[in-house]
Amino acid sequence: MSILELLDIKYPIFVAPMAGVSTPQLAAEVSNAGGLGSLGLGAASVDAARKQILETQQLTTQPFQVNFFCHQSVSSSTTANQNWIEYLKPQFEKLGATPPQDLDCIYPSFMDNDDLLNLVLETKPKAVSFHFGIPHPHQIQALKEAGIITMVSATNLAEAKAIEAAGIDIVIAQGIEAGGHRGIFNENFDAGIKTSDLVKLFTAHIQLPVVAAGGIMNGFQAQYLINHGAQAVQLGTAFVQCPSSSANSAYRDALFSKPITQVTSSISGRPARGIVNAWAMEIDLPTRTAVAPYPYAYDLGKQLHAAATKQENQSFGAFWAGSNVTQIRQLDAENLMEQLVVEMGQYD
Ligand SMILES: Cc1cc2nc3c(=O)[nH]c(=O)nc-3n(C[C@H](O)[C@H](O)[C@H](O)COP(=O)(O)O)c2cc1C
Repeated sequence: MSILELLDIKYPIFVAPMAGVSTPQLAAEVSNAGGLGSLGLGAASVDAARKQILETQQLTTQPFQVNFFCHQSVSSSTTANQNWIEYLKPQFEKLGATPPQDLDCIYPSFMDNDDLLNLVLETKPKAVSFHFGIPHPHQIQALKEAGIITMVSATNLAEAKAIEAAGIDIVIAQGIEAGGHRGIFNENFDAGIKTSDLVKLFTAHIQLPVVAAGGIMNGFQAQYLINHGAQAVQLGTAFVQCPSSSANSAYRDALFSKPITQVTSSISGRPARGIVNAWAMEIDLPTRTAVAPYPYAYDLGKQLHAAATKQENQSFGAFWAGSNVTQIRQLDAENLMEQLVVEMGQYD
């Protein structure tokens, strides 16, 4: 069965689930335009996730996906957390702020939270996708029994094979160009493969439908990847600028400032690609201390950004963006979808 049939969508275009940027409006606009809308719920509580899913179901009758994080949970390492707080302390002080005494696990993993599984089973979105790993077998089984399509991001062949062996329906090939967090299962190993090579690798070695993600800003790039075996494409950065995303004005301005992107673990404790700012220039020094584990480091990163924002300083924002961000266009989601479809030559 093709991806279009599996997901019951008209065009092979997904807006990426983007925690902190996705909104029910953006998801519904993409779904109503014939693509797959997405909700990034990795940072949401069960109640906030429920609210977003129900709101999206009010705004569209078309299929959409919800997305959660499947990181292996790390118990709080006091030493690593304390070292990281100490390393960032001078930055807080420059902003007239005091760093916290300790760090919290701000994003529990889907794997440790069956309330999230029960929410998905109760609200029944068409598809659910996972980042950073594969859910437990009982979770996959329950989703399958409920008829919900499952998808997992992979950045190398071993991850893709594990996804296939676990009985997941679709693999998302996330290339090194991608904005946001690397979907790597092991935060200490990143093969750094580009999107087009991943698509070729996966289509040659596994049977699952492949969705290409990373650096796709227009329909020509999307069609190139489809011609090389991808069944669909997932775009994040291109949609961040849409009026219906929840990106703030500093983030929107940064996207259009002809930025350069870089991968850093300093903001959250896991590698992620974003616009070069004070994190790259002042924190990622050759003498940097080992970063605290995810998501503890993210707790501190968000607090540093909040302290800077109080001083009207946006230079510690987590402005996630892919390496082709300079090709960004100012279009609302409906027009962006229309443009992508025309460029892909699929207009009817
Ligand atoms: C702002 C932003 C937030 C993201 N958040 C998530 C997320 O919550 N879950 C996820 O699976 N992927 C997330 N991603 C990664 C996307 O799924 C996708 O791999 C990436 O956007 C593709 O590259 P592109 O940004 O160049 O299109 C995020 C990407 C961006 C840009």
